[in-house]
Amino acid sequence: MKYTDVRGLELTVNNAKALSAYNKSIAANAEYRISAAKYMERAVVEDPNFTMAYCVLGYYMMAAEAMAPEGAARTYLEEAEATNLEQVTPRERASVAALRAWVEGRQDDATVIWEKILDEHPLDLLTMQLLHYRCFWLGKKESIRDSVSRYFGHWDPSMPNYSNVLGMYCFGLNENDDSARGLEYGRRAIDLNKDDLWAVHAVSHVLNDRGEQHAGISFLKQFDTTWSDRNAIREHLWWHEALLWWELGDFDKTLELYDHHFAKNITPFYLDVQNSASMLWRLESVGVDVGDRWMQISDAAIKRIDYRYLPWTDVHVAMTLGRTGKQNELDGLLVLIQDDKVKVRNARMYAALETNSAVCRAISSYCNGDYSAALESLLAVRSDNFRPLGASNVQRDVIAMMAGIAALKAREFATARAVFAQRLEAKPSNQMTWLFYADAAQGCGDHDAADRARAKAKTVQGLRV
Ligand SMILES: [Fe+2]
Repeated sequence: MKYTDVRGLELTVNNAKALSAYNKSIAANAEYRISAAKYMERAVVEDPNFTMAYCVLGYYMMAAEAMAPEGAARTYLEEAEATNLEQVTPRERASVAALRAWVEGRQDDATVIWEKILDEHPLDLLTMQLLHYRCFWLGKKESIRDSVSRYFGHWDPSMPNYSNVLGMYCFGLNENDDSARGLEYGRRAIDLNKDDLWAVHAVSHVLNDRGEQHAGISFLKQFDTTWSDRNAIREHLWWHEALLWWELGDFDKTLELYDHHFAKNITPFYLDVQNSASMLWRLESVGVDVGDRWMQISDAAIKRIDYRYLPWTDVHVAMTLGRTGKQNELDGLLVLIQDDKVKVRNARMYAALETNSAVCRAISSYCNGDYSAALESLLAVRSDNFRPLGASNVQRDVIAMMAGIAALKAREFATARAVFAQRLEAKPSNQMTWLFYADAAQGCGDHDAADRARAKAKTVQGLRV
C-alpha cells in the first residue's frame, strides 16, 4: 500500500501507525534526538515489510560510526532487501542500493545515488542530510553546499523541517567562504526552530571562522540547557564553545568545558576521540600543561584502530598514540593506512589516504621531537588546506597550527611566517597567531615586522598579552 510522508514523498507501507512512527523518527533524527532509532524500530514492528524503515535503520547505524557498524547495518540492509523490492517505488529501491554501497565501503557510489534521488525528489530531507554529512566527511567542499543549493528552490517555509535545510545551507555556504549569506540562513533557521541543532552548530562555525569569539560564546549559551535529550552533537557543541575560549586565550575555561562536558565520558565513539584529542593538541600547542588527560583518551583511541572509517578520526588516534608514547600502535596505524592506500582504485580515496598517511607520519615525528621531519611531511600535503582529510575548515586548522609550530621549532622561520600569515589573513582576531607570527618574523631577522605583530597582538581580544 502506498502512503505519503509529511513532505509528500511516496512510501510503501501497509498501515498508518508504521507511517506515523517513520515520520516521528525522521523528525527526531533531524534534531539529533536519541529517540530517532526507537521510533524507526517501532515502524518495523508495526509493518515488518516496511522497506524504507529497515533501510533508514541501516543508515542510522552507518552514520553513527559505531564500532563495526556494517555488521548491524548489513542486517538491516538484508531485511530491506528481503522485502518485496519489485513493489516499492524507484526512490525506495535506490535508497536500499545506496545503503548497500555504503555498507560495502563504496561511499562515493552512495553519494552519487543520493544525488540522483534528490534530483528527482528534492524534498527527501533524510537523503539530503545523508549527502550533506557524507560530503563533509569525504572532503567534498563544494558538495557540502551543493547538496542543498541544487534543491533549495523546491522548499518553502511552510514545509516540515524547512529550518533543517536552511541550517545545512548555512553550513555549506560557510565552508565555501560565504559566511555572510551563511549567517543569514542560519539565523533564519534558528528563528524558525531553536531545536535545530545543526543550524546552531552551523552558526557557531560561522562566528568562529569570522573571529567573533564573544558573539559565538553568547550565541551558544542561549541554547545549552536544551541539549539533554540529544545525541553526540551536544558534546560537539560544547567543544565549539571551548574552541572559542581557546581562541581568546582563556585556557582555564577551555579545560573546564573539556573536563565537565565534552570529555567527561570519553568512549571510542569517533566524535569523542576527535573532540578531546584535537583540544588537547591545541592547548599543548600554546604551552598549556594538560596533565594526564591524554592517558584518559588512550584506551578509546586504541580501540578505534581496528574500526577505521574516517581519515579525520585516524589523525586524532595518531595524536593520542603519539602523546601517550604508544609508538608500536602508532606504527601499526601507519602501516594500516599505507596498506589501504595500495589497495584503493578511487582517486578521491587515494588522495585522502595519502594526506592521512602524511599527516599521521608528521604527528609521529612531531611527538618524537623531530620537527623537521614533521614539517616536511605536512608541507607535502598542505595545498588545499589538508582538505582530503574531510571535516570542517576550523577542525583542520589544528593541522595548520601544527605545521606553523613545527616550523618554529625546526627554525624554518620563513615557512612558519607564511603559515601564520595565512592564518592571520583568515582570522586576524587571534592574539596567539599574532604572537607566533612575531616569533617567526623575529627568526627571519625582520625585527620591525615582529614588533608590529606584538603591538597588534595587544589590540585584539585575548589574555596572552
Ligand atoms: Fe563543528
